[in-house]
Amino acid sequence: MHEAFAWRLQSDLAIMNPTTPERVLAAARAAGLSADDFVLDLGCGNGTVLALLAAASGCRGLGIESRPAAAAAARELVRARGLEDRVAIRCGDATALDGLPDGISVALCLGSASAFGGIEDAVGALRDRLGPDGRAILGERYWRTERVPPEFARDFADCVTEYELLTIVREHGFALTGIIRSTEAEFDAYEAGIWAGCRSALARDPDDLEIRTYLERIQAEYLGYGREYVGWAMYVLSAPV
Ligand SMILES: C[S@@+](CC[C@H](N)C(=O)[O-])C[C@H]1O[C@@H](n2cnc3c(N)ncnc32)[C@H](O)[C@@H]1O
Repeated sequence: MHEAFAWRLQSDLAIMNPTTPERVLAAARAAGLSADDFVLDLGCGNGTVLALLAAASGCRGLGIESRPAAAAAARELVRARGLEDRVAIRCGDATALDGLPDGISVALCLGSASAFGGIEDAVGALRDRLGPDGRAILGERYWRTERVPPEFARDFADCVTEYELLTIVREHGFALTGIIRSTEAEFDAYEAGIWAGCRSALARDPDDLEIRTYLERIQAEYLGYGREYVGWAMYVLSAPV
């Protein structure tokens, strides 16, 4: 199942990750976000996070999103919140380094690490887009234990344990300065949101076997092992002291 398909089925979710606006604001506080910052949001989806942070802190920002429909939704949200003078949305490839503005002080990668080829390359990409004092927020799934049965581990080849993540973060010249962890209830709500997206699509076209198979598979994965072995958190990365 290609990821663009999966992301399309999340497009009704304001935040396409198992977290909440309150937790996003907590991560921003932990990163010391202020009106002096310029935030780059890699794979910004519907723009919910960037708009929230800009409204709460007064920061400026650029969101980059590859799916035209999501980028259009993000632009519309920015316009509706009256943030156009401070926040821009670009429809394009967030892995490209050219054309980025100067002065990016905070970089976000929330649920978009796979666009860079996995967590290690996403942390490298965050580092590459920031000066030495820049801060980053990485939001991703992690294995809750090292003892994941191999038949499950194969399904999420990119997933790492938090200990492995710590090593990756340090190797890329960051210090880990905060963790904002989602609860199981928040993960349940996120999964149910994706199921609702699948059900809406099936209500429009009951013969869409791709979506029907996908819904059956993600429910089986989640109840079979995802809920037990996979967590989600935002990691605040800062300059080492
Ligand atoms: C799981 S969603 C998260 C969206 C957003 N960060 C949020 O928290 O709501 C991942 C997003 O990354 C986008 N994406 C994937 N690959 C991308 C790329 N190479 N460049 C820009 N966006 C990309 C997807 O279209 C999708 O909207």
